[in-house]
Amino acid sequence: MESISFPEGFVWGAATAAFQVEGATTADGRTASIWDTFCQIPGAVVGGDTGEPAADHYYRVDQDVALMADLGLHAYRFSIAWPRVRPDGGAVNQAGLDFYSRLVDSLLDKGIDPWVTLYHWDLPQALEDRGGWTNRDTAYRFAEYAETVVGALGDRVVNWTTLNEPWCSAFLGYASGVHAPGRQEPEAAAAAVHHLLLGHGLGVAAIRSARPEARVGITLNMYPIIPADPEDPADLDAARRLDGLQNRIFLDPLFKAEYPADVVADLEPFGFSKHIQPDDLSVISAPLDQLGVNYYAEHFVSAKPAEAPAATNGRRPTSSPWIGAEHVTFPSRGLPRTDMNWEVQPDGLYKVLVRLHEEYPRLPLYITENGAAYRDAVGEDGGVHDPERLDYIDSHLRAAHAAIRAGVDLRGYFAWSLMDNFEWAEGYAKRFGIVHVDYETQVRTPKMSAMWYSKVARGNALAA
Ligand code: NOJ
Repeated sequence: MESISFPEGFVWGAATAAFQVEGATTADGRTASIWDTFCQIPGAVVGGDTGEPAADHYYRVDQDVALMADLGLHAYRFSIAWPRVRPDGGAVNQAGLDFYSRLVDSLLDKGIDPWVTLYHWDLPQALEDRGGWTNRDTAYRFAEYAETVVGALGDRVVNWTTLNEPWCSAFLGYASGVHAPGRQEPEAAAAAVHHLLLGHGLGVAAIRSARPEARVGITLNMYPIIPADPEDPADLDAARRLDGLQNRIFLDPLFKAEYPADVVADLEPFGFSKHIQPDDLSVISAPLDQLGVNYYAEHFVSAKPAEAPAATNGRRPTSSPWIGAEHVTFPSRGLPRTDMNWEVQPDGLYKVLVRLHEEYPRLPLYITENGAAYRDAVGEDGGVHDPERLDYIDSHLRAAHAAIRAGVDLRGYFAWSLMDNFEWAEGYAKRFGIVHVDYETQVRTPKMSAMWYSKVARGNALAA
């Protein structure tokens, strides 16, 4: 394999999210988020796992920043817990802000650039009690919360992300019920899509008015959609619908100031368009400085019925997140899979990046997440040997580099995740970290992939 260098200034980082790593769910005035509540529902999370102890990052943050510095990371992408900062969605809790302010200072002290995500799924439960993202008012509360955080950190933080993967918040949270708040109401998911995007647009305005020099973006989970049989009109229609519901439903309002007509039609049975008010699309399409892409796999889709129903993994029954495309199935095509049972398909990352470059405004792109879960364990020699993760990241970086060669303005890569953490409905059993966490002792052990990634970051290159 050839050795390849990345463009000068390419950002090498790693990412986490508040609820997945912090623990300390009742410390210093934090109140419940929808995830704290959701974890209490029997069968909602594998093993009955909760946000405690997670990786105890709230109390081990100095040690974790030192570890990032040892690894030579340029940037740390983390999220702010809204229920620490405005616990009931309203009044500001200074102690919550102070935690993040200290984190930002200690990162800067070590020369690590803080990349802040405002919403990585932990809505204050108090706001869910008022309808959550189905309620238009939540978008305005999000903008207020954004203003508070930018007011506290904006003198030191340049790079801001409004929402992480709004697809998951809307469709897993309100349609399938796999994620918090666990609702299975397709109409609610349709409303949530629009209100999340409106919250994004209002949040962008709040950030810009406080800090004109901020660089602002959003992070989307993008999937190439591959029809199983490209000659079969039913499979092609399945692919069109999925692409609409996964990708274009967010990209088009953000970058073209309109929802795609076919998606609006597919969602009309769920009352989608009644939520859209005049001027909303101009708020939503406020210009951005950068776009974050989370990439894990492709969707290989068919309109033919599935051979066997998907296993429920001992969890409570859930519905399809694909409202407007419930007939679409995901056949297997024999690719290797990770411990999440997700296909490994690095070429899909190339496709996503090139598509964004060709079909949407040529914004600077960052891979804000990419990585894989495998069954890691600390070996007898004290090390964690994870050659599959190393290969996964290596092959995806090669795909990213191919996209750069094809002209894509890709400026950075954040490994998901810095360390093992709470993998949402899958609990702690799925390990995505490049650093292993022993949840009994909270000992961190950089995996072989972390040492390798550190060399890549330091050399700005992949060795042959
Ligand atoms: C995307 C999400 O942003 C992150 O929270 C999650 O852990 C990873 N994907 C892996 O599923």
